[in-house]
Amino acid sequence: MQEGEAPEGAGHAGVSVAAPPAPSARRYTRALACAGLLLALVACAVALFGSSTSPQGWAAATRLTARVSALFFLAAFSASPLAQLWRGPATVWLLRERRGFGLGFCAAHLVHLGAITGLSMNGEAPGPVALLGGGLAYLWMLAMAFTSTDRAVQRIGVRRWRALHGAGMYYLWGIFTLSYLGRVMREQVPFEHALLFTLLLYVLLLRIYQRVYRAR
Ligand code: HEM
Repeated sequence: MQEGEAPEGAGHAGVSVAAPPAPSARRYTRALACAGLLLALVACAVALFGSSTSPQGWAAATRLTARVSALFFLAAFSASPLAQLWRGPATVWLLRERRGFGLGFCAAHLVHLGAITGLSMNGEAPGPVALLGGGLAYLWMLAMAFTSTDRAVQRIGVRRWRALHGAGMYYLWGIFTLSYLGRVMREQVPFEHALLFTLLLYVLLLRIYQRVYRAR
């Protein structure tokens, strides 16, 4: 999954950057996808160590896997505005490799789904709202992942590809932000929740600013 990698300089949701990366320029797509999967599996194993049948262990696994996937998601979602607003070797690299970060997010989030299944089988089943909102997010994420190839972009066309990936990224952003909003409104806010919530808002502001900046 990636944004802004359609041909003809297209980003998604109208977000384009100076020059889209040539397919051959991407070098770490598979490595980043595998990194997302591995990190999420390690997070899951750490959470379940010694308590693989307790609901607390599985709840911790869902939280940790969601954090790993949030980091990969943030990298993919912020690549375009960062590269446009602060062009430099690191931001250009991030932009070039964002397909890998998107796929890493997808892989880590599938481990989140595995942890949710474990939690459901060991005590706490999710409610209908989480199932509906989260289920749609999973379907969307998979559609984006399966169309994250140059051939898929050509097959479905740039406009439809942009619509799918543009709307999908904002929908996923919404689910992440709502999940953390509920957590930062609690009495004692853990540092990691506050940090991830702030980063999610910051990246949205960057995207808004990027649009204004481009329009000038
Ligand atoms: C059917 C779909 C889903 C279900 C049933 C589900 C369920 C859960 C559960 C049970 C937790 C742990 C709650 C706790 O113990 O505090 C959790 C955490 C979380 N989930 Fe999901 N989830 C789903 C999909 C998603 C999606 C699609 C996203 C993001 C796009 C997401 C993002 C998060 C986040 C950010 C957390 C909090 C992690 C933290 O504590 O740092 N979830 N989810």
